[in-house]
Amino acid sequence: MAKLVINNENKKSTIAPEIYGHFSEHLGRCIYEGLYVGENSDIPNVNGMRTDVVEALKEMKVPVLRWPGGCFADEYHWMDGIGPKENRKKMINTHWGGVVEDNSFGTHEYFELCRQLGCKTYVNANVGSGTVREMSEWVEYMTFKGVSPMADLRKKNGHEEPWVVDYLGVGNESWGCGGNMRPQHYADEYRRYQTFARNYNGNKPISKIACGANVDDYHWTEGVLETCFDHTPEQFHGFMDGLSLHYYTLPETEDDWNIKGSATDFTEEVFYQTLKRSYFMEELINKHGAIMDKYDPDKKIGLIIDEWGIWTDVEPGTNPGFLYQQNTMRDALVAGMNLNLFNKHSDRVKMANIAQMVNVLQSVILTDGEKMIKTPTYYVFKMYRHHQGATLLGSDLLNNSIVGSGKNELPKVFESVSEDANGVITITLTNNSLEADETVDIQLTHDAASYNVCEATYVAGAMAAHNTFENPEVVKEQEFKDYAKTAEGIKVTLPKCSVVSIRLNK
Ligand code: AHR
Repeated sequence: MAKLVINNENKKSTIAPEIYGHFSEHLGRCIYEGLYVGENSDIPNVNGMRTDVVEALKEMKVPVLRWPGGCFADEYHWMDGIGPKENRKKMINTHWGGVVEDNSFGTHEYFELCRQLGCKTYVNANVGSGTVREMSEWVEYMTFKGVSPMADLRKKNGHEEPWVVDYLGVGNESWGCGGNMRPQHYADEYRRYQTFARNYNGNKPISKIACGANVDDYHWTEGVLETCFDHTPEQFHGFMDGLSLHYYTLPETEDDWNIKGSATDFTEEVFYQTLKRSYFMEELINKHGAIMDKYDPDKKIGLIIDEWGIWTDVEPGTNPGFLYQQNTMRDALVAGMNLNLFNKHSDRVKMANIAQMVNVLQSVILTDGEKMIKTPTYYVFKMYRHHQGATLLGSDLLNNSIVGSGKNELPKVFESVSEDANGVITITLTNNSLEADETVDIQLTHDAASYNVCEATYVAGAMAAHNTFENPEVVKEQEFKDYAKTAEGIKVTLPKCSVVSIRLNK
């Protein structure tokens, strides 16, 4: 039996709501069909946004949405996506299937989507094939209230008031699809671009995010930070609010992107291998974090994990360039485990955006025409939503077992604990074992007797269990009843292959 000791007087960092963020790229059927069907669609919509999808996402609580890419961002020219739709330029989406992008979803549509979702905005600017002027004018178009060429153009296009850009990404994967740059070159570009991303809204400055590393490229992190912090006068402070990190979990092979493995048909060995690879995230946070600590010991710059999740082979028969994949209990565990890690490292991790929101990679929602299903990952995000904005509590898991074997060994249980503004404690746990349930003796160090379970839910099932359009509720959030109050707290039994959320109040 494992023991989870929660020190409920040890209040640590705030868990930024943005850790539960999402990513939507002009890729496959994420934007078009998945989120946006256009005003004239037979599918119920509000200003072109699918009502069923928006409602489901609101229930899950989306704090922030990154757009328009990804690799697409560095070939996106925002002016092609404004003004009357019939006049908008058509382009080839060279990265993703070579399909025609008609630009019917552009800046106005993105902000309308975020308005409907009630979420913050994270716009990724084009550094790879754009110009400083193009980016600077986009910021002016989006955020300037007064009289100026770009603000006037926005008004002419039907939006009198400026929008709020919460986060601005300066390039995407600039070490690869965003321009194949070297770290020092990118850092110099970053310095220049961010200078001209003006803060027109004095009360709410834009948080600027520099392009960080791919996986364990520590050379990139060191090179970018060293160059950025070289010759930085005092007034340069605020020049970087975040540094990104991208890490995808490939189930089958570590570096051969042609054999990633099936989303639904995999062995137990591959199941554990997937979880173990995903657990590598903690090492990445620690090692990139240690480099950041050298330059930013006060942790003012957030580590922004703005692309993460499982990347498998596409569903058989679908366009390989569309990255459409199913989502199983394995995905639920990957999500639950990573979100627990992000919570525990919330002193440095200030945002994370799972890739991608709908119909692409590890999605929370899949659509087929007018049909929509929620994936196992959806339920994990919904169950964990109570951590958003809460305070991380100190917790120690003792007597934890090991699952998997050989190079795939990893801890059986992952957990994190937070307390919200009303004093409600949320405990989220994964049981990574395919073989055995796990009883966890949860002990609170202070005032344990006053706490009672006020809500408890879980998802569980076979490792490859998933929802389909024919059978949409194979995996869903259910009431969790396997707990009992003890003198020190509560004792819970986690089913094998499950993610559990337990909430305690006084
Ligand atoms: O999410 C799919 C792609 O993965 C993104 O466009 C890119 O940034 C990353 O390589």
